[in-house]
Amino acid sequence: GHAQVGVTGMAVMGRNLARNFARHGFRVAVHNRTTSKAEAVVREFGHEGDLTLARSLEELVAALERPRRVIVMVAAGPGTDAVIDELVPLLDPGDVVADAGNAHWRDTVRRHDALAEHGIRFAGVGVSGGEVGALEGPSVMPGADADTYAEIGPFLEVVSAHVDDEPCCTLVGPDGAGHFVKMVHNGIEYADMQLIAEGYDLMRRLLGMEPAAAAEVFREWDGTELESYLVGITAEVLAQSDAGTAGPLVDVIRDAAEQKGTGRWTVQSALDLGVPVTGIAEATMARALSGDTARRAAVRDALGDQDPAGPPARVPTDDLRQALYAAKVVSYAQGLDLVRAGSAEQCWDVELAELPRIWRDGCIIRARLLADITEALERHPDAPSLLATPTFARAVTERLPALRRVVGAAVQGGVPVPVLSAVLAYLDALRAERLPAALVQGLRDYFGAHTYERVDRPGSFHTAWAADRTEVEAG
Ligand code: 6PG
Repeated sequence: GHAQVGVTGMAVMGRNLARNFARHGFRVAVHNRTTSKAEAVVREFGHEGDLTLARSLEELVAALERPRRVIVMVAAGPGTDAVIDELVPLLDPGDVVADAGNAHWRDTVRRHDALAEHGIRFAGVGVSGGEVGALEGPSVMPGADADTYAEIGPFLEVVSAHVDDEPCCTLVGPDGAGHFVKMVHNGIEYADMQLIAEGYDLMRRLLGMEPAAAAEVFREWDGTELESYLVGITAEVLAQSDAGTAGPLVDVIRDAAEQKGTGRWTVQSALDLGVPVTGIAEATMARALSGDTARRAAVRDALGDQDPAGPPARVPTDDLRQALYAAKVVSYAQGLDLVRAGSAEQCWDVELAELPRIWRDGCIIRARLLADITEALERHPDAPSLLATPTFARAVTERLPALRRVVGAAVQGGVPVPVLSAVLAYLDALRAERLPAALVQGLRDYFGAHTYERVDRPGSFHTAWAADRTEVEAG
């Protein structure tokens, strides 16, 4: 075989990734279960580079130089296992299979270990950037053993996005580390999008702005510290008018947000690890709530949608901008905390500062802010939170009054801001000298003799609530 990389799965992401490799001068073999799709890729884009058609996985394997590099880009889940099961008997020890889909990181760990039994090397590669990113340079988050990365990393680095000649691709850690990081990337993506949506809702409902006017504000913000891909495309979506109704498109899109699962996985992993990713969790719940249309209608009918509280308080758009920035910083901090915890539990040794670095371009959450986060984490690699680094401690402290005004106005005006308010509560809780968790511990001890610790002496204690209420030291 003479091809350097094989790609199986010619849906839009796989096709564009294959074209990206070919455009960079790599010799690429392409395969799809339904051959006509792979044929179309070679026919339509063959002029862009060296694209060879493989009509079967046997042909794909035969087309590749050794050790073989096969990239699997199919819908995550059982489809990935089906392809791998079919590939394994065709491959030789030392060959590399890279799953570039949005796999659950636990599946990636399982596949890595299963393939190792056959001497086949497996990488779980997080790829972000949608269709355009796959074609023009995505952010790439590979998880693999070092020797596996040596085989495929150089290829991935060439086709990834670049910032100042640095690839937005680095070995994140072994086996499931790359997909874990991609999962958290998507969780942050959920929080970012919900924050933007809350900002837009406040513009409309507190400030009476039409979508076109809100679009202008987002366009302006895209030239500030909020500059990011998502803020930029928000301006475009809000400015879009609908041909059918001649009104704003956003007004005729059904208000039920869908999800394919990465946000849910982020929250599930966070619960398992005990990491409070409250912004991401509220963003994920907000999607679920929006889709729960029958319950929304029933409760709206039962309770009414008008609150007898006074007229909505107004907030300046500059408060909104500051609140969004502070909340965005907090949700990134929470996401990075989750990576830190996952890495510790799995012994992955993920270098945290590398993540914002490879997210600076190519991916959906690319943002000006990520350069500053990278710098803060490089300077303070052992900071227990991004919020504890001097740069971001200052940035958030300065914007806290605006965040508080915005959440206050939203609460008063009856505008739901689940992520903004969760983030504010998180900041207030982390900063509190004393938390009412003391009372929770007291209650647990009352009904279940679960014991508590004291602030003034070591040991575990129990109060004899049902008897004479004396305190005893518990075993
Ligand atoms: C990316 C995106 C990509 C995809 C999400 C959408 O980084 O390129 O995150 O992976 O758009 O899977 O996820 P939901 O369907 O769950 O919103």
